[in-house]
Amino acid sequence: MNYYPLTLPITNPLNPNFVFPDVTSIPDPWTIWLPEAKDILSDEVFAWFKEIKSMPHFVHLFYGKAGRECKIHTDGIKNPVPAAINWVLSGQSSEMIWYDPLTEGNIEYVTGSKREHIYWLDNEVTEIARHQITVPTLVRTDIPHKTINNSNDDRWCLSVRFWPGKPWNKTVDMLKDYIKPL
Ligand SMILES: [Fe+2]
Repeated sequence: MNYYPLTLPITNPLNPNFVFPDVTSIPDPWTIWLPEAKDILSDEVFAWFKEIKSMPHFVHLFYGKAGRECKIHTDGIKNPVPAAINWVLSGQSSEMIWYDPLTEGNIEYVTGSKREHIYWLDNEVTEIARHQITVPTLVRTDIPHKTINNSNDDRWCLSVRFWPGKPWNKTVDMLKDYIKPL
């Protein structure tokens, strides 16, 4: 499995003081911000991470216009980030899709996230799973994946990674008490 819907003791992941970026005039239909964890996450999130003996780290806020999608990619190059918890705040009928790579992929520098990543073209992968994220969900990010916003709403997604990072299987194990039975 490349994703696990979670039951978390968190009613609102957002810090009530957080102000969303103004997207009325941004040129890019798919944009990433990297806010400080303390600025965007609620106290409930910090309390829960403490409970699991981890820390929220490297928070991403994704914005994707209705009808758009990102490239197929992994998160990071040398040491890809294995896992994140995603809260899709709007545009919940968007889909996250995972792939088996058929090639080594192509390297690209991503301005928004200020780092390199590897991307694949559609004919360089085989789809292995897709999922609509409607509750906080543990998602695998070190294998090729992308998101399509096929909803009519702009998509905002809060994505939180773990510190210290662990391999995917160990992260799943760490969260086993919170994984919803399928
Ligand atoms: Fe990603």
